[in-house]
Amino acid sequence: MKFFIDTANLAQIKEAHELGVLDGVTTNPSLMAKEGITGHENIISHYKAICGITDGDVSAEVIATTFDEMVAEGEALAKLHERIVVKLPMIKDGVRAIKYFTDKGIKTNCTLVFSAGQALLAAKAGATYVSPFIGRLDDISTDGLQLIEDIRLIYDNYGYKTQVLAASVRHPMHIVNCAKLGADVITAPLGAITALLKHPLTDNGLAQFLADHAKAASK
Ligand code: E4P
Repeated sequence: MKFFIDTANLAQIKEAHELGVLDGVTTNPSLMAKEGITGHENIISHYKAICGITDGDVSAEVIATTFDEMVAEGEALAKLHERIVVKLPMIKDGVRAIKYFTDKGIKTNCTLVFSAGQALLAAKAGATYVSPFIGRLDDISTDGLQLIEDIRLIYDNYGYKTQVLAASVRHPMHIVNCAKLGADVITAPLGAITALLKHPLTDNGLAQFLADHAKAASK
């Protein structure tokens, strides 16, 4: 399973990269705004900076919501770097745009997916990645992980190559459960990824090993 980090924060992207587990980055307009990245030139140079850190795919989301504008914006984004993936919303014109970019050999990430039917459409249009938002479903008392399971089943039934990119991941057990269900990719905040490291028995065990070593060395 690939690990993407879901942030536009360069320091956090570097930290995940240096940990050696980073396979890519996803961003969205809210994450860019959170880092104070506004204005066309700043947004473009920020995407270039992200591509300079990771060796993996970088999802850059269009702001446009009509087909012609999405195509123009997506083409400009795709020209920035070979690893830019054009991120498009699950709306009618977004599906058309995914098909357009698929036919041109440009990678896409279909975002804001909340149902198996939407994921089926994204795969039919040839999306490289589909992003079901599991945390936001959990927030409204709907089982986000069930959606991952349903999409996995549907894609496997027909051999769709679209990669299931579990998004809106909130905590380490989301990541573990997505791995059990066969998600191809998770995108998560740095905190959810590093939380996978934690176990009190690891900390206690290491403290004991070091204490025993120090005691023996002092004899
Ligand atoms: C997906 O690519 C989105 O950027 C993201 O996962 C949304 O997560 P949130 O629900 O925590 O905002």
